[in-house]
Amino acid sequence: MTEIDWERLRAAATEVMRHAYVPYSKYPVGAAALVDDGRIVVGCNVENAAYGVVLCAECGVVSSLHATGGGRIVALSCVDALGEPLMPCGRCRQLLWEQGGPGCLIEAADGPLTMAELLPHAFDVEDLKTVTGERPVPVVPDRLAAWRGRGTVFVHADLASGQPVWTAYWERSAGDTEGAETGVLEEGPNWADPAEAIAWGHARSPRVVVVDAAGTIFWAGEGEPPMEIPTRWAG
Ligand code: THU
Repeated sequence: MTEIDWERLRAAATEVMRHAYVPYSKYPVGAAALVDDGRIVVGCNVENAAYGVVLCAECGVVSSLHATGGGRIVALSCVDALGEPLMPCGRCRQLLWEQGGPGCLIEAADGPLTMAELLPHAFDVEDLKTVTGERPVPVVPDRLAAWRGRGTVFVHADLASGQPVWTAYWERSAGDTEGAETGVLEEGPNWADPAEAIAWGHARSPRVVVVDAAGTIFWAGEGEPPMEIPTRWAG
């Protein structure tokens, strides 16, 4: 994708702003988005006697995006009655996040901002994967339920039939209780992605330690890394 023609996008937003239906607020808004195939899709706000059901200009953009062939939004300009950039409301940020993702650019008074800047820590389809089964919630066996929150999970790189994999084990930490036995509580399966092994760990204990293929130890548990494992796992 070449340079974004913000002038053209703003002009399209300003033009459609004049079609807004705003008898109640008298606050017309227009929005225009550049799609990844080069299309420009537009929308204006549409109000209603039942004030709360107002459709923001960005809602029109999202509908138009799909009505005219779909694709991803690359950049969006949203303007007020003066043709000045207007920041999308919270609800519209959520809508735009799904259609453009974190790197989608939104015009602001001092230059474009990314959706990641406008909606940090966003909720999205990735979060739903825990209920659709695409990202299974790690289950702790009943017999070990009493150990939840205790011990330490060690996530480590390993080889399974010559293939590099990630695995984990959950261990009673020595000294957890005076005189308590030490040793492994549970062995985890193999994963291709260390993030899954770490998630398995978080379901068991706030103490999660990663040992990579080079033998370097990282903290992937809750809170600040302890003194003996000062480096946080960045993966
Ligand atoms: N509005 C939008 O169209 N988009 C926004 O992001 C902010 C608000 C509209 C909704 C309503 O018709 C008017 O502005 C005043 O809130």
